Amino acid sequence: MKKYNVAVVGATGLVGQEMKKTLEQRNFPVNKIRLLASERSEGKKLKFRGKSVEVEVLDENSFKGIDYALFSIGTELSKQFSPVAAKSGAIVIDNSNAFRMNKDVPLVVPEVNPDAAFEHKGIIANPNCSTIQMVVAIYPLHLEVGIKRIVVSTYQSVSGWGKEAVEQLKEETKRLVAAGFSPAGSGRDCSAMVLPYQIAFNLFPHIDKFEENGYTKEEMKMVNETRKIMNEPQMPITATCVRVPVFISHSEAVNIETEEKLTPDEARKILSKAPGIVVIDDPANSKYPLPIDAAGKDAVYVGRIREDKSIPHGLNLWIVSDNLRKGAALNAVQIAELLIKN
Ligand SMILES: NC(=O)c1ccc[n+]([C@@H]2O[C@H](COP(=O)([O-])OP(=O)(O)OC[C@H]3O[C@@H](n4cnc5c(N)ncnc54)[C@H](OP(=O)(O)O)[C@@H]3O)[C@@H](O)[C@H]2O)c1
Repeated sequence: MKKYNVAVVGATGLVGQEMKKTLEQRNFPVNKIRLLASERSEGKKLKFRGKSVEVEVLDENSFKGIDYALFSIGTELSKQFSPVAAKSGAIVIDNSNAFRMNKDVPLVVPEVNPDAAFEHKGIIANPNCSTIQMVVAIYPLHLEVGIKRIVVSTYQSVSGWGKEAVEQLKEETKRLVAAGFSPAGSGRDCSAMVLPYQIAFNLFPHIDKFEENGYTKEEMKMVNETRKIMNEPQMPITATCVRVPVFISHSEAVNIETEEKLTPDEARKILSKAPGIVVIDDPANSKYPLPIDAAGKDAVYVGRIREDKSIPHGLNLWIVSDNLRKGAALNAVQIAELLIKN
């Protein structure tokens, strides 16, 4: 079997570490692995398949001989280095927002639009984490009865904002517990603060920057990326994205209005057979997807499937998935797997 030289760019980050783990767990045919990060991580040693690999500093020469470059270093650095990697012959799979809406860059979720991956010109974009889990869950229903409109509210974990946000939640929680939860003992002065407000024992409807239209960038990513991936450029979609004090896994309350009627039972049957989905929907026994159960797992979990009785054809769904796995690393590795199979 052919083996490939793979670079993990941002290897010390939350997504980068999950990429490395996913390559190992799925037995991706890796010949050589190159782990790239900033000067802060130079010389650090990380394990890959039991062997110690030194982290190298990302620069213009990092991609010689690389077949696949899995990027997770943020938008500005991706804009700078993805074209360099592609020019030196690597196929880039980029996790940032840099190229997702670029007409020449496919935006791929293998369960939804695998064919798009083959149209790449050197760079393929991995969608936003909250978009990926939603489209995996609703696309099989769209194929069956046609979705007319989507209304989504998200409950997104702190790991979606990187390792510093995880530290912020840890530090604030320790501080507030030590202060006996007194209202004055707020976590606001936390030195690890990268989120706009205290997140421990709090939440806020603010993920990424606000745009002039009143929505956040994260909300508009869900709208625009869903339309691109599902090839439905006019589909009405509205999103509210909320950061919650959960470490891993995003949850979403999704309402869909459909062209034709679909009962909750029919939806459960369709989703139970669909790729990448696990249905957990037994309200009588209080069984529904939870972020703590989804963390570390590959699937997109769907539950609380019920009729929206306020419109003729509508369903409500509760969708939960690990944002670092299917929302980032796993989706990227699955794209690389698609390409090497053909
Ligand atoms: N977290 C998620 O759920 C998620 C999901 C989908 C997409 N993404 C996207 O993936 C990207 C990374 O997210 P993350 O959560 O993994 O962030 P993170 O935990 O903060 O990690 C950032 C990574 O980027 C590296 N880096 C920072 N500055 C660098 C520089 N100047 N040169 C080289 N490397 C540099 C860091 O290296 P050092 O350790 O050396 O600083 C680290 O490896 C972002 O674009 C994010 O939007 C994240």
